[in-house]
Amino acid sequence: MSATLIDGKAFAAMIRGKVADHVARLKKEQELTPGLAVILVGEDPASQVYVRSKGKQTTEVGMNSFEHKLAANTSEAELLALIQQLNANPEVHGILVQLPLPDHLDEDLVINSIDPAKDVDGFHISNVGLLGTGQKSMVPCTPLGCLMMLRDHHGSLSGMNAVVIGRSNIVGKPMAQLLLGESCTVTVAHSRTKDLADVVRRADIVVAAVGRPEMVPGDWIKPGATVIDVGINRIEAPEKGEGKTRLVGDCHYTSCAEVAGAITPVPGGVGPMTIACLLANTLTAACRANGLPEPDGLTV
Ligand code: GUN
Repeated sequence: MSATLIDGKAFAAMIRGKVADHVARLKKEQELTPGLAVILVGEDPASQVYVRSKGKQTTEVGMNSFEHKLAANTSEAELLALIQQLNANPEVHGILVQLPLPDHLDEDLVINSIDPAKDVDGFHISNVGLLGTGQKSMVPCTPLGCLMMLRDHHGSLSGMNAVVIGRSNIVGKPMAQLLLGESCTVTVAHSRTKDLADVVRRADIVVAAVGRPEMVPGDWIKPGATVIDVGINRIEAPEKGEGKTRLVGDCHYTSCAEVAGAITPVPGGVGPMTIACLLANTLTAACRANGLPEPDGLTV
């Protein structure tokens, strides 16, 4: 079998189009421009790339983008003061603090100081609790993007066996909650899981989010299963020339694609969906803050 390719790049472009249309209507009919504030502390190169891309895509859909770049030695008090200011600013509907933070800053304290209604990452403990109890919340962007693609491909996910590999707060845990909410039978596997291959072989849906290049081989995949590869790992690619690199996922693409029914590629799968869902969450937050109806099909 050769798997159907789930095209996250095209899906994300469609979401951005829907967001842009809705933003245009809000501006015209409500004189409301949704705004996203992104805070970057320090000079981590990968984070700088993400933040630039977030800012660019935010303005492309017609929203206001507020970028706050702080020095690596910024104190916790300074960072918390900035977050309080953004919490109080009615032009800011979404606040994102780029992770990881430098070691001297308490990540939990910082995230939990964001107004939960503006927490477009869905990382605040209130949003985590709301999601876990099936209540309306802000849903973390990467798992939200994965769920949108799964729903689009399958329709109902009810009764399916889903295995999430990875138990991070950013992807693994919220992904498991979302799949439970879809009435899947969910297993969360991680680095201490015994007989991981056998666990994965039982899955109709595999979501791999461990950050280990090509860890899942094709012979772990149940024939016809859907593989959602969240990993983005840069590895050496001597075949492309000296010092060259390439991006791979947590799944070994070619062998998994031979067995799976559907698969997301890396790059061009989950990656582009994350920022598209961030824009969707910012729009949702702006609508909620102003008592307006939420956009259709952009949240769960
Ligand atoms: N760092 C890596 N992924 C994310 C994310 O989804 N949100 C934030 N804030 N930081 C990240």
